[in-house]
Amino acid sequence: MKKTRIIQLCFLLFAVAFAGCKGKSGSEQAGGAFTPGELWPDNNGVHINAHGGGILHDGDTYYWFGEHKTEGTAGNNALVGVHCYSSKDLYNWKDEGVALSVVTDDSTHSIAKGCILERPKVIYNKKNNNYVMWFHLEPKGAGYSGALSGIAVSDKVAGPYKFLRAVRPNAGSWPTNVQDIHKQRVPESDRSKFTGGSLPAHPDSLNLLGRDMEGGQMARDMNLFVDDDGKAYHIYSSEENSTLHISLLTDDYTNYSATYARFFPGRFMEAPAMFKRDGKYYLIMSGCTGWAPNAGRSAVAPSIWGPWEELENPFVGEGSDLSFHSQSTYVLPAPGKSGQFIYMGDRWTPENAIDGRYIWLPIRFEGDQPIIEWQDKWSY
Ligand code: GAL
Repeated sequence: MKKTRIIQLCFLLFAVAFAGCKGKSGSEQAGGAFTPGELWPDNNGVHINAHGGGILHDGDTYYWFGEHKTEGTAGNNALVGVHCYSSKDLYNWKDEGVALSVVTDDSTHSIAKGCILERPKVIYNKKNNNYVMWFHLEPKGAGYSGALSGIAVSDKVAGPYKFLRAVRPNAGSWPTNVQDIHKQRVPESDRSKFTGGSLPAHPDSLNLLGRDMEGGQMARDMNLFVDDDGKAYHIYSSEENSTLHISLLTDDYTNYSATYARFFPGRFMEAPAMFKRDGKYYLIMSGCTGWAPNAGRSAVAPSIWGPWEELENPFVGEGSDLSFHSQSTYVLPAPGKSGQFIYMGDRWTPENAIDGRYIWLPIRFEGDQPIIEWQDKWSY
């Protein structure tokens, strides 16, 4: 063999060995197992940056969309946008880049760099053959007072997504389960009484629903759910986080249909993740304590419109009182396993936002009760 040929061969062998090492670097996530709470490297060996995320199963590929966080406390605001990753097996993720970018040249834009853009979710719309993204949006510089929903669309799953609008849900419409008390005028003195926070800060008599009826309801922590009949729903913490609303979307999934209902009044449910099992609807949620973890919550209903029955904390075992230091973001049907589901949660690190970890665990059932137990490492 000629000398140059030997050198070429050695180089090739070295390159193959190096590529093999890189795939396994940092954690065992890449390969064939989930390692909750560890670093999860993507195909470039970089920790996945898709917090508060959700998954779209499109053809034979899973797409994971989430908040692109950056370093430090500043990284809790949106300085980049929504990041997308793809995978065939849920273990190995390829970086697909930024699917929706914040706007850098207009600080007054709804999604200007520095806004708060949280919990993005993407669904496929059959009617328009396009992809629709929803997220919780707080315009730059106004804290969490905006409580808006942002909507963006793309013809290509990984984007780029085009921002459509930011809205408050269902302006001018009452929910289907409105009560007489909501239709009473809210005294001006009462309107300023409530400043957020969790139970028992909010008596239902404050009538936040009535307060926001004309201008649109508040929407913060959110998720989307597409039912078997193709109808899509937006599920979000409303009324200063105190009450969960579920809204039917229009056929193109880009707006509210004005059909909505309110559930769990005064329970301060956050981080809702809906799924369907054997014809019943389930929600996994959290309480309302900001970035700090709390005990998880769950509920079941025979229909999306209820009645919703609150169940127990789905987390069991040591650490269950803090949901294993996580907060729900999505529930994914396990690939090829009918009736089995994967809990996806975030372990937030607000002091260095980019370092947030992912807690994915299998969900099993005891009757209607979803059960989530800790595992250091597992495969479906
Ligand atoms: C959490 C919420 C997060 C984020 C955070 C800010 O309760 O689930 O998405 O909004 O509060 O404190």
